[in-house]
Amino acid sequence: MNYNKKTVKDIDVKGKKVLLRCDFNVPQDKKTNAITDDKRIRAALPTIQYLLGQGAAVIACSHLGKPNATFDAYVKKQVAKGKKAEELTEADWRKSLKKLSMAVVYERLCELLDCDVILAEDVIGPDAQAKAAALKPGQLLLLENTRFEQGETKNNPDTAKALADLAGADGVYVSDAFGTVHRAHASTAGVAAYLPAVSGLLIQKELEIMGGALENPKRPFVAILGGAKVSDKINVINNLLDKADTIIIGGGMAYTFAKAQGGEIGQSLLEADKQDYALEMIEKAKAKGVKLLLPVDSVCAREFSADAEPVVVEAGRIPADMMGMDIGPKTVELFCAAVKDAGTIVWNGPMGVFEFPTFAVGTKAMAKALAESGAVTIIGGGDSAAAAEQLGFADKITHISTGGGASLEFLEGKELPGVACLLDK
Ligand code: 3PG
Repeated sequence: MNYNKKTVKDIDVKGKKVLLRCDFNVPQDKKTNAITDDKRIRAALPTIQYLLGQGAAVIACSHLGKPNATFDAYVKKQVAKGKKAEELTEADWRKSLKKLSMAVVYERLCELLDCDVILAEDVIGPDAQAKAAALKPGQLLLLENTRFEQGETKNNPDTAKALADLAGADGVYVSDAFGTVHRAHASTAGVAAYLPAVSGLLIQKELEIMGGALENPKRPFVAILGGAKVSDKINVINNLLDKADTIIIGGGMAYTFAKAQGGEIGQSLLEADKQDYALEMIEKAKAKGVKLLLPVDSVCAREFSADAEPVVVEAGRIPADMMGMDIGPKTVELFCAAVKDAGTIVWNGPMGVFEFPTFAVGTKAMAKALAESGAVTIIGGGDSAAAAEQLGFADKITHISTGGGASLEFLEGKELPGVACLLDK
């Protein structure tokens, strides 16, 4: 895939209207709706400020959560969750939409930006059209949640065209929603058919750092993969076996590898149908001369709970009534030694159940090892990013991606629709 895309710096935006796709999909407090982490909003500021400073009028848009764009879709989802269709009302549906309004993001943008910020009541409807038409250079208009439009996730060409029309005849499309580049939606990809399309500064940075690590890494290149499921990481392991010098496998997925090698894993996570794949990967690594490191011991427990008693057990010898919850102390030593002299480290997925402090030791040790290494360190979003932040190591990491699913697909080497649609340099 070609990552060498035109950016906002390669075009003239003065006096133009710029449709800017951001990823303002921020976590919110379930009760109060307040934003609990505004990192993604802050990450969008350099591009917004650059465009406003160049004399553009900026029409920003994003999705927030997974709203149901129609009442029918809402009913279907609620019924699947066990609710009775006849008890569901349109008022309930509208209430659910209100919770995912961009109003909270608008308030945060007003606090962070020193310019006029205007909120539209809809996405491509009359209010957005009128406010976009009246928008002046130096002003920012924020559209409502793009997923309130049925055509958004379906990448409907009419929805994409209506979005593009907001920017007018000499408008420009800037994609800066790295977290959403793996989605081919109207606002992330379809719209590029109707406007000249370039990347913003956040996407440029993500592509440069992560792309650089994959294509031209400072060696040794060590990849650390964790998380619950092997099935989530199959393509990542495949792709990294062609690029990395060492692959470290921890977290829940390591137990499928242990079982496949004939070990006893008790009640630990197992994907029985992925055992052959695990063995294949071990062989492939040998054939390619890639060091594949698996846990040599685990911290286990008799129940999945925060206050379960931790017991250290040798890998492959977990008693029938126990489950692996974290990597053990010998494994921590082994994994930390492997990252010590690395030139580049990419990490995706925690080493254990880090949400429970007793079982966060392995994940914390890896985060610390990354922070203390002299390597270029990259955390590929999602749970491992949350772990590094929660455990206090975030500011010592070279780059923490703003993408969860997107960074995973990037590591898989997949074509990302939100990048592929941009103009080549
Ligand atoms: C994310 O949070 O990973 C992105 O915003 C994409 O969200 P989605 O999984 O709802 O498409």
